[in-house]
Amino acid sequence: IALGVLASGNGSNFEALAQAITADQLQAEIRLLIYNNPDAYVRQRAERLGIPALLLDHRQFASREDLDQAIITAFRNRGVEWIAMAGWMRLVTETLIQAFPERIINIHPSLLPSFKGIRAVEQAIAAKVRISGCTAHLVTLDVDSGPILVQAAVPVLPDDTVDSLQQRIQVEEHKILPLAIALAAARSPLPV
Ligand code: GRF
Repeated sequence: IALGVLASGNGSNFEALAQAITADQLQAEIRLLIYNNPDAYVRQRAERLGIPALLLDHRQFASREDLDQAIITAFRNRGVEWIAMAGWMRLVTETLIQAFPERIINIHPSLLPSFKGIRAVEQAIAAKVRISGCTAHLVTLDVDSGPILVQAAVPVLPDDTVDSLQQRIQVEEHKILPLAIALAAARSPLPV
């Protein structure tokens, strides 16, 4: 699987993907990391792991479509077939989705369809749910609403904070994102 990764921040899911590949749990190769914040820690991870990384700063693009077009070009140049959105904090356009139809996978920190959007962990705590978790799903235009591939559940403990719950969820994210990519790719192999 020729993989491209989109990430905006810390990049623990990016690194988990790289580790799953090294451990032979995922037969894939990360061809390129694209990140949009110059200060994103994920850049340092890519450097340490020897994975090519490209900064596409959204502030340098006139529109979301322009950014997505640059993403498409960069990924195509590297032969990318599947995209993992691992903490990509930008809304994607139809342009990107149509360039990689049903081949973009997002990881989200809730049991979808509960708690969509960027404050999912906070919302789960506010709602006082006893179980939360994470979801790997195909990306569609509707944010956090595409077909679900894999989910994992974790308990929400009485004195959890956003941080403590997020940490517990992330342990599971790191397992299900590689799994979801393997599953989706096995289900719809690319024509040769
Ligand atoms: C993850 O919690 C993911 O669910 C959300 O953004 C976060 C990214 O974390 N979409 P990291 O950058 O992979 O550490």
